[in-house]
Amino acid sequence: VRERTLIAVKPDGVQRRLVGQIMQRFEQRGFKLVGLKMLKASDELLSQHYHDLNKKPFYPNLLRYMTSGPVVAMVWEGHNVVRTSRMMVGDTNPAEAHPGTVRGDFSIHISRNVVHASDSVEGAQREIQLWFNRKELMDWDCCDHSNTYQV
Ligand code: CMP
Repeated sequence: VRERTLIAVKPDGVQRRLVGQIMQRFEQRGFKLVGLKMLKASDELLSQHYHDLNKKPFYPNLLRYMTSGPVVAMVWEGHNVVRTSRMMVGDTNPAEAHPGTVRGDFSIHISRNVVHASDSVEGAQREIQLWFNRKELMDWDCCDHSNTYQV
């Protein structure tokens, strides 16, 4: 199975210089980076990305937050990467996120939760298509220096 997920460092994470530390966790775990870019997310992209949230009272704040600076979007690949990433990122609400997770180590409030991680395999496929075009995804081999279990 070649599972992929979208991880995005949100504007607060970029502003706080956390990009390297977050990427390091995914590399260290054994996942493979297959897509990476920095961008200012448009309202249009965000309304598609958050299509299930646009009626929520916090949506205007969420849009303002997500457009307050650049985002670093990444696609990571590997065995069970969607579920494992969610564990590594921690609970959506940083107040509930365990120490050792990205949010549990770097954030305290849900409105500044540092990072996005796709919540399902289907969601990941949808989000990856939204944020990346096909040519931006690299298909590269890595057997020598990876602890990824190749399935
Ligand atoms: P995430 O799970 O990545 O995607 C939805 C985002 O909406 C979530 O992170 C938070 O950034 C934001 N969010 C969810 N609930 C609230 C809330 N109650 N108040 C502010 N922002 C929220």
